Amino acid sequence: MYVCNCFGITEDQVKKHAEAGACTPRQIASASKAGTDCGSCVRRIQSLLGRGACPRRELVDQGEPTMALVPEAELPKIPGIPEREELPEAA
Ligand code: FES
Repeated sequence: MYVCNCFGITEDQVKKHAEAGACTPRQIASASKAGTDCGSCVRRIQSLLGRGACPRRELVDQGEPTMALVPEAELPKIPGIPEREELPEAA
């Protein structure tokens, strides 16, 4: 099932990026471009990440490094992608 229609990114692709360490919508956007056009998929991506798609989420929540990804603080701000703390809680 497509999550991001603008870039043809599927739920499985988001989960694979999450398994590889992309634990926030910004990191998913950095890895796949999902969410960087109209932005209507960002909440869906947030919801997927909040439902255990990211096995390293617990480490991230504890502030631990998960792997050799660019730290979120160093990622460029992408217009239309809200900061993590600006997103509503996933349902
Ligand atoms: S549906 Fe993902 S950016 Fe438009």
